[in-house]
Amino acid sequence: MQEYGEGEALAPLRVGVAGLGNVGATLVRILQKDGADLKRKLGRQLEVVAVAARSRSRDRGIDISGLQWFDDPVALAKSDGIDLFVELIGGEDGPAFAAVKAALEIGRPVVTANKALLAKHGVALAKLAEESGTQLGFEAAVAGGIPVIKTLREGLGSARIAKVFGIMNGTCNYILTRMGNEDISFADCLKDAQALGYAEADPTFDVEGFDTAHKLSILSTLCFGYEIAPEKIRVEGISRITQQDIRVAADLGYKIKLLGIAQRTEHGIEQRVHPTFVPRGSAIAGVDGVMNAVALETDHVHELLLAGPGAGGPPTASSVLSDMLDIARGTKVPPLGVPSAELMPYVEAPMRAHEGGYYIRFNAKDVPGALASIATRMSEHSISIDSVIQRSDLNAKTVAADGSATRTVVMITQQTLESSVRETLAQIAADGFIVGEPQVIRIEAL
Ligand SMILES: NC(=O)c1ccc[n+]([C@@H]2O[C@H](COP(=O)([O-])OP(=O)(O)OC[C@H]3O[C@@H](n4cnc5c(N)ncnc54)[C@H](OP(=O)(O)O)[C@@H]3O)[C@@H](O)[C@H]2O)c1
Repeated sequence: MQEYGEGEALAPLRVGVAGLGNVGATLVRILQKDGADLKRKLGRQLEVVAVAARSRSRDRGIDISGLQWFDDPVALAKSDGIDLFVELIGGEDGPAFAAVKAALEIGRPVVTANKALLAKHGVALAKLAEESGTQLGFEAAVAGGIPVIKTLREGLGSARIAKVFGIMNGTCNYILTRMGNEDISFADCLKDAQALGYAEADPTFDVEGFDTAHKLSILSTLCFGYEIAPEKIRVEGISRITQQDIRVAADLGYKIKLLGIAQRTEHGIEQRVHPTFVPRGSAIAGVDGVMNAVALETDHVHELLLAGPGAGGPPTASSVLSDMLDIARGTKVPPLGVPSAELMPYVEAPMRAHEGGYYIRFNAKDVPGALASIATRMSEHSISIDSVIQRSDLNAKTVAADGSATRTVVMITQQTLESSVRETLAQIAADGFIVGEPQVIRIEAL
């Protein structure tokens, strides 16, 4: 560890950056612009000396003429000319994994913004870093510019965390916010998000909740000390949310948000990602547009909400820089909060009862006995119906080409078990009074 006043003696920290896209090019730009300021803080210069990307000729708005160029990120990671390797390529395997592994194996510190890589290989990479006595920083991998990793690992390092939940995907939050403010469908909103650069050409990973699941799995490990287990997360996305759902939520005093939620239970860890009714007055409901937020429930600090930009070049590069500063200062912490050998094997808890119950929207056949049959099945499973929603737009009859008619039926249940809801819906489907899969949205009291 560097002592105060000794900084001037330190040689520049030579940095190799693999990936010069949105985040990588922004990082190089910030370092070229703010280098002198950072040197004053660190007593040491952070100097990008080498880069790798696919296209050498592409104009990235940065001057790379004086930097060593590598076509192969692994060769850059292993190069003797750098002291720190920064991976900003992306992808859970491929060149990103190969290069990060190669750097750690030779004891070279690594900074990455790659949540997919961390979700899949995080434990193995943390172990490798510990065995090599080096550092692995990934502040930018969860919630972009929000310093949540450091908050969990260091700021709340001694706290016992009971629950973490949050809005961790700006694309989904943008779409749901606009659907809540305007009479616009999911599909139209998605098109706008793509035109504005908030959504990828293939939005599946974001809108179906997988991106949130990756981030949640990393947070969950930092909070609870279990191995990273993204495959154990129940994941539902937002592509089936309609204006009907949004309007009923608003009538009842809620907003719909895509939440990632992980909590410690007496049976293990419960992790889930799904659209959620959140009370309109709650702090998390106020996080709109492309903003992200992570809420933590702890023993002594109680509740903490971190909110801010969850993506974009400058916020993400700022988190990458924060890790680089730690490495330049010689700070060493176990990457996942506890040494990887101390991580517990993941124990999956069954989904529990939800405070506030469920919103269930059926497309029910317009025939005598349909509603009664649904209500009977509910009562057989001891599911108490809090209300059946009446709205003129819901009550309208829809007639299909074959002449069959359906009506929308929306029910709000009281607190109930997830397993009861699933069993009941399976039986209702088998009874033949509904068309298609019912829409089920959990209501969280938060
Ligand atoms: N964008 C965000 O807001 C954000 C937020 C948080 C975290 N992240 C994470 O940050 C990382 C980078 O994201 P990004 O948005 O900057 O991605 P991006 O714009 O797509 O940039 C990816 C870069 O990687 C380079 N690359 C791809 N394959 C390569 C290979 N085989 N060898 C060498 N270089 C290769 C590309 O080279 P070319 O330019 O030559 O094609 C490009 O410069 C990802 O892990 C992402 O999940 C991004």
